[in-house]
Amino acid sequence: MKKDTLTIKDNSTGKSIELPVRRGTLGPPVVDITRFYREMGFFTFDPGFLSTASCRSGITYIDGDDGVLLYRGYPIEQLAEKSTFIEVAYLMLYGDLPNAKQMDTFSHLIRTHTMINESLKSFYNGFYHDAHPMAVMVGVFGSLSAFYHDSLDIRDADHRDLAALRMIAKMPTIAAASYKHSVGEPFVYPKNSLGYCGNLLHMMFSVPSEDYEIDPIAERALDLIFILHADHEQNASTSTVRLAGSSSANPFACVSSGITALWGPAHGGANEAVLNMLEEIGDAKNISTYLDKAKDKNDSFRLMGFGHRIYREYDPRAKIIREMCHEVLKKLGNENDPFFELALKLEDVALNDDYFKERSLYPNVDFYSGIIYRVLGIPTNMFTVMFAVARTVGWVAQWMEMISDPDQRIARPRQIYEGAGIRDYVPLDKRNSDT
Ligand code: SDX
Repeated sequence: MKKDTLTIKDNSTGKSIELPVRRGTLGPPVVDITRFYREMGFFTFDPGFLSTASCRSGITYIDGDDGVLLYRGYPIEQLAEKSTFIEVAYLMLYGDLPNAKQMDTFSHLIRTHTMINESLKSFYNGFYHDAHPMAVMVGVFGSLSAFYHDSLDIRDADHRDLAALRMIAKMPTIAAASYKHSVGEPFVYPKNSLGYCGNLLHMMFSVPSEDYEIDPIAERALDLIFILHADHEQNASTSTVRLAGSSSANPFACVSSGITALWGPAHGGANEAVLNMLEEIGDAKNISTYLDKAKDKNDSFRLMGFGHRIYREYDPRAKIIREMCHEVLKKLGNENDPFFELALKLEDVALNDDYFKERSLYPNVDFYSGIIYRVLGIPTNMFTVMFAVARTVGWVAQWMEMISDPDQRIARPRQIYEGAGIRDYVPLDKRNSDT
């Protein structure tokens, strides 16, 4: 039987190395290069990690060529249709769908950790009302380790479990408070009688002066969007959480680093950027002008919500959200929502354009999500905050998996050094004074 190895030969010396090939349950084989530098004296070079597996994981599987996304083996399409966000959170954290008792216990535990320490509320007052809610969330979430000392010890399984529950449970409360601060309304406490997404809508949109009724269609739409955003393998923000976790930083600090990484417009910040882009394009007659800008290498403009490092097909999440737009707009908004109409036309033109076809650029999860957030009354600057709330489940699950991985060690990549060669210090009076 052919040994599962890959031989790499240094043609300048004739020296070669046989490296083990590892195969997961699904996906391409992996060549294990752990010994490569030690035995061959070479680093490998892979900026952006296009060909690099950074870890072993059993949480999410993506096949970018066929547009497949599985959470713990379950197709995203089935979870979107049949599950709930809290059930998906349980699945992510513990590896399988919960039975009725496990679901009750987990839901109860999440509900009993939704409040944040009262002192945390004063943090919000330190921000101007026009602070971006993501800036507020990064600041407030990053401070949680200053309050919850009984869930910081990463070597203690009870501490880890408690930190996981607290982070997932408190994210909606922190997010809603970031929104309330930005609109100058009083914070609303969580209500433990409500579901996860209903509570978030309640904390965002209810006011003391009036009764607030949660629209079940809005609640279900948000729950579905959150399922689609829960995890996505080793994306930039999840890899950031794992990198921070590899230094044995406390869980709150690790997830706070994930929130920061998600904010970039190349990543989770794209959903806000898509709406701003649609606003800038304004009318279908301007689409070709903006597509030309997107194709112009001298223009920094990119078609936000388009393209993906892994998907060479339509992002399965974008497909589901696009279908959702039709349904939610019919029930909650107006079926002829101008942004949705424009987005559909933009997609149609782009997908028939050679530049996008040749590069396999399709709409990703961020292209349509903002259309739904808008109809739910969520302002554009809160879109990435919503993404962060949902992705906290994935960050926490991936962090827990990393901490218990026996292979886990501090992540410390190397480099190609292209700086100055070794040289001696030059005293000030000997330096060239002309430059
Ligand atoms: C998310 O990793 C994940 O899983 C992320 C995510 C998750 O759930 O965690 O799925 C969430 O972040 C989705 C992506 C959101 N970002 C955007 O929508 C921003 C716009 N898209 C891009 O900037 C870009 O497509 C990335 C960042 C998403 C992917 O970048 P890559 O894989 O590094 O691809 P690239 O930049 O090397 O592009 C390859 C080619 C280039 O052209 P050429 O050099 O071959 O001529 O495609 C072009 C790029 O210029 N290109 C685009 C484009 N995206 C890629 N051109 C115009 N518009 C775009 N959107």
